[in-house]
Amino acid sequence: MKKLVVYYSFGGNTRSIARKIAKDIGADIAEIRTIKTYPDDYDVLVSLGKREVESGYVPQLYALGVNVQEYDEIVLGTPVWWYTYAPAVKSFLKSVDWKGKTVYPFATNGGWLGHTPSDFKKALRGATVGPILNVKFEEKTLVTPMSVIDAWIGDLK
Ligand SMILES: Cc1cc2nc3c(=O)[nH]c(=O)nc-3n(C[C@H](O)[C@H](O)[C@H](O)COP(=O)(O)O)c2cc1C
Repeated sequence: MKKLVVYYSFGGNTRSIARKIAKDIGADIAEIRTIKTYPDDYDVLVSLGKREVESGYVPQLYALGVNVQEYDEIVLGTPVWWYTYAPAVKSFLKSVDWKGKTVYPFATNGGWLGHTPSDFKKALRGATVGPILNVKFEEKTLVTPMSVIDAWIGDLK
């Protein structure tokens, strides 16, 4: 079965986990990228992110570079933005027909996963959704033990 790891990452945390997963399971990997650029100033980004999440904003994305429909199993990674997946991931979720696919979500965050798991389940209607991997970082430092991440990856193989 063809496997794909798709992720969005602003600061690199989600990218580092996505790359590890893709390497460990031998999957293809693709990055979700927004056409507009987000501000580098963290405080400005955090308040802009709040407005975007609360208004349901869906940013325009660059083409992914792979055809998601060719994959049966998809690992989908996001940073948590205001207790849910990032707006870029919302755009991606809306762009795919999820029927018949199996999706394993993971979310990096600073300790407040919020309603990300149930939001994924709602957005992935028609798909089989595996248990979410919750990866905590303190800024750039991984807090969740690697053994927890490896155990979750082990179940994907
Ligand atoms: C706009 C914004 C909102 C955030 N909201 C949350 C949140 O609700 N809960 C949380 O634990 N962390 C939150 N964070 C922290 C990020 O989820 C965390 O740093 C994540 O690992 C960043 O991933 P990245 O480096 O791949 O972008 C937020 C960060 C940003 C920029």
